[in-house]
Amino acid sequence: MESIAVIGTGLIGRAWAMVFARAGHPVRLFDQAPGAADKALELIREALVETRRFGLIDEEPDVVLARIRPAASLAEAVADADYVQENTSEREDVKREVFSQLDAAAPAHCILASSTSTIQTSRFASHVAGRHRCLVAHPVNPPHVVPIVELSPAPFTSPEVVERARVLHERAGQVPILVRKEVEGFILNRLQAALLIESWRLVDEGYVSVEDLDKTIRDGLGLRWAFMGPFETIDLNAPGGVADYAQRYGPHLYRMMQGVTSRPWEGELVTRVEKERREHMAHEEHAEREAWRDRRLMALVAHKRAMDKDEG
Ligand SMILES: NC(=O)c1ccc[n+]([C@@H]2O[C@H](COP(=O)([O-])OP(=O)(O)OC[C@H]3O[C@@H](n4cnc5c(N)ncnc54)[C@H](O)[C@@H]3O)[C@@H](O)[C@H]2O)c1
Repeated sequence: MESIAVIGTGLIGRAWAMVFARAGHPVRLFDQAPGAADKALELIREALVETRRFGLIDEEPDVVLARIRPAASLAEAVADADYVQENTSEREDVKREVFSQLDAAAPAHCILASSTSTIQTSRFASHVAGRHRCLVAHPVNPPHVVPIVELSPAPFTSPEVVERARVLHERAGQVPILVRKEVEGFILNRLQAALLIESWRLVDEGYVSVEDLDKTIRDGLGLRWAFMGPFETIDLNAPGGVADYAQRYGPHLYRMMQGVTSRPWEGELVTRVEKERREHMAHEEHAEREAWRDRRLMALVAHKRAMDKDEG
């Protein structure tokens, strides 16, 4: 199995360590904050116990944990690495510096991937000699539960590196997609932004309450979206498939969204949405509700896996 180095052991770095270790990879952890990597091991153990409860790992948590070892320096963490997943602070200057260090210390064949949510590969890796081996591998929080990973190379990234990264993620149980051209927000966050912009607008202009809008996704569109995307959805929603759908409904949907404008989320609008949300969840319940969300997600992922297995 390829050796993996995880740089930065916050929320995302810890989750990546679990993804790779449960797939059988040896994992080295490095974080610049003193004691952070050791602390990460404790948190990883707790999370592994939870995922085991939902059947998302096949082995005992301690067996998976034994594959993860802290390193005393970045150079030590990447010395024998075949693949690096970088998860440091979301700042361009930090990423540029860390990628300089990674390029200097990692073996020549090693892939250097960043979890960045917003910074294109061209912006953090163009200055390093080994830029052909750099790319974004953007996860969704938490990647040990939600498997999508957006691979976003720069024009200078080698196609062979992208392919090796794709195969590695797929073997680790993730679902890699390829962002063919660099674009702000990659794919997932652009889709999320489009839906959020329209959601805020519908509430702002008084068409629907916050809770009813949430129900529309939770008990409507979202049910399908847990197992099929919008293109498959419309392909099945017209007897003649996607071309038939485009002909029947395309002009109407297109007209409906023409001239739609949005305004920034601020002032009275935010106060109103905040008030409506607090009627359904007090601030004090935030952490408890987050834990509930993660349990629901794990149960959903376990269900999807079982269904996929049943259906061969
Ligand atoms: N949190 C999310 O929902 C999410 C989702 C997808 C992607 N990401 C991306 O993942 C990355 C990490 O995010 P996070 O939420 O885990 O952040 P975090 O603040 O929880 O963790 C960042 C860690 O990096 C360490 N660090 C900072 N500079 C370092 C350096 N030079 N060398 C080594 N370690 C360093 C910090 O000590 C900290 O432990 C970011 O690029 C972020 O955009 C986050």
